[in-house]
Amino acid sequence: MATNEHARPQRSVALITGASDGIGAELARVMAAKGHDLALVARQGEKLAAIASEIEATGSTRPLVIAVDLSRPEGIDQVQSALTDAGAVVEILVNNAGYGQLGSAVTLDAAGQLGIVDLNIRALTDLTLRLLPGIIARRGRVMNVASVAAFLPGPYMAVYYASKAYVLSLGDALSQELKASGATLTTLCPGPTTTQFQTRAGMDPNMFERLGPMTARDVARAGYAGMMAGKRVVIPGFFNKATAVLVPLLPRSLLLMVVARLQERRKT
Ligand SMILES: NC(=O)c1ccc[n+]([C@@H]2O[C@H](COP(=O)([O-])OP(=O)(O)OC[C@H]3O[C@@H](n4cnc5c(N)ncnc54)[C@H](OP(=O)(O)O)[C@@H]3O)[C@@H](O)[C@H]2O)c1
Repeated sequence: MATNEHARPQRSVALITGASDGIGAELARVMAAKGHDLALVARQGEKLAAIASEIEATGSTRPLVIAVDLSRPEGIDQVQSALTDAGAVVEILVNNAGYGQLGSAVTLDAAGQLGIVDLNIRALTDLTLRLLPGIIARRGRVMNVASVAAFLPGPYMAVYYASKAYVLSLGDALSQELKASGATLTTLCPGPTTTQFQTRAGMDPNMFERLGPMTARDVARAGYAGMMAGKRVVIPGFFNKATAVLVPLLPRSLLLMVVARLQERRKT
């Protein structure tokens, strides 16, 4: 009997970007344990395959592995093709992949800073806009990973902080637009969290440890619970919540001086 694309049984997945490491890998473990069928996206296919094998070994369905560079314009098309080839539809989208760079904007490599825009902003927006109609049809969920950095300007990490302000603003607006749709959008705003992020950003790991970072597992658990509860914003940890509430009350000029001083001390 002839088959066609529409006759093929569909696999309903939670797609997690940046799932090869850190918060994304922990989200994959947490969500697999809760019974979600997953699609894992990042550049390093071997790392994704290892996490998929680890999840499969717990008795869960082996996640779909999609190794792509999301900062490249064709990256999102490649994700869509891989989903179509696997007969998968996205019910939950977790836009987690992201990076930052510590240093003065004029001396940091311009391509690296534009890469932050490509990944943290463009890829996140493209995936959200493309997949949202299907997610709404399934009354699903979106979770975008921003940061407490979204609540303040960040001298010496200027493009990164600005990118996270964009993620929070977009998420707030879309969550309002989604009201009554049955779908929800959550913005997860972690504070310092022990992952590869600091090394990739060029931060001094000793300075970072003094900030009392959370574990990626705890951040993933808080994010997952908040997303499933349909919360608009999730800020894991008391100190991070206090930062988000108090920081906007400070005079902007004072805030800029304090953040600049703190960031300069974080350099390796
Ligand atoms: N750690 C913190 O202190 C902290 C605090 C606040 C917010 N956040 C946010 O949390 C999110 C996750 O970061 P993390 O701390 O878990 O960092 P991480 O350990 O460095 O993980 C980043 C993930 O993103 C993937 N990625 C990077 N560039 C990519 C690209 N071009 N295409 C596809 N995937 C890419 C990486 O995988 P590949 O290298 O395999 O591509 C990796 O899986 C980020 O959005 C970050 O801004 C982190």
